[in-house]
Amino acid sequence: MREFDETSVTAEVLRRLEAAPAPRAREIIGALVRHLHAFVREVAPTEAEWAQAIDFLTRTGQMCDATRQEFILLSDTLGVSTLVDAINNRFPPAATPSTVLGPFFVADAPRAALGADIDGGDGSGARLHVTAEIVDLAGAAIPGAVVDVWHADAEGFYDVQRDGGKRRARRGRFTADGAGRVHFWTTMPASYPVPHDGPVGEMLAATGRHAWRPAHVHFMIATPGYRRLVTHVFVAGDRYLESDAVFGVKEALIAEYRAMPPGRAPDGTRMAAPYRTLAYRFVLTPEDPAGGKSPPAHRDGPRARHRSARPR
Ligand SMILES: [Fe+2]
Repeated sequence: MREFDETSVTAEVLRRLEAAPAPRAREIIGALVRHLHAFVREVAPTEAEWAQAIDFLTRTGQMCDATRQEFILLSDTLGVSTLVDAINNRFPPAATPSTVLGPFFVADAPRAALGADIDGGDGSGARLHVTAEIVDLAGAAIPGAVVDVWHADAEGFYDVQRDGGKRRARRGRFTADGAGRVHFWTTMPASYPVPHDGPVGEMLAATGRHAWRPAHVHFMIATPGYRRLVTHVFVAGDRYLESDAVFGVKEALIAEYRAMPPGRAPDGTRMAAPYRTLAYRFVLTPEDPAGGKSPPAHRDGPRARHRSARPR
């Protein structure tokens, strides 16, 4: 019978992975074992610290339900989500950059008509009119994209954090018009702390970090022939732009939410009180961008098909 000590156990665990039927599983679990063992050797945890780590991860899982995802939050606040996003979305410089999905996306957002008010009537922030334009790398409009929008209210809470998470507000799923535009009304979002009443909050407190995110509106834009874009548009001037708790800010994603006096809004609505407007142009990356890995014979296929389908 072989026995293993602190110098030999890593090699033996890796040896037992060699027969794994799936090469990718062997690669992933092997790397996990190598890095995890190196981490333990570096940290040399006491048994009490090891038990604390198990308890932390256990409670992180127990905190998760249909509307609270503590593991995504942990990934976000450790910068892992930003790293995964960066590796998987290497868009060209001219394209709108992606950023983290965050824990507040819900897949069953209500369908909304262009021009709709998605605030739900209980938002206390200034009224906000949003116009989103969706174009390709050459600046040509992309009609018909499905655009999911979601954001916090003026007190920094998402609908899923209020009233038991039952009612949907400040989120909607739009379809861009023939000119590649989406427009709607809502209310201004505020900066907010990520939920910090659970294990992630303990981690932030233990490391002297704040939990705040700069104010933003989330967008997810999907249409055939283009890479899905998951991003935010941040409010220029926010005090947390330099220290976002989840490392999601990018310069190109900061925009003016212009303060407007009472008068006629972009969609013709007469506004009796001051309001804000956001106009943002989203530049999508083709599925198969020129200069990508695909062979030249296939390079323009999806783009050409899409272009021919576009109304002139
Ligand atoms: Fe958010």
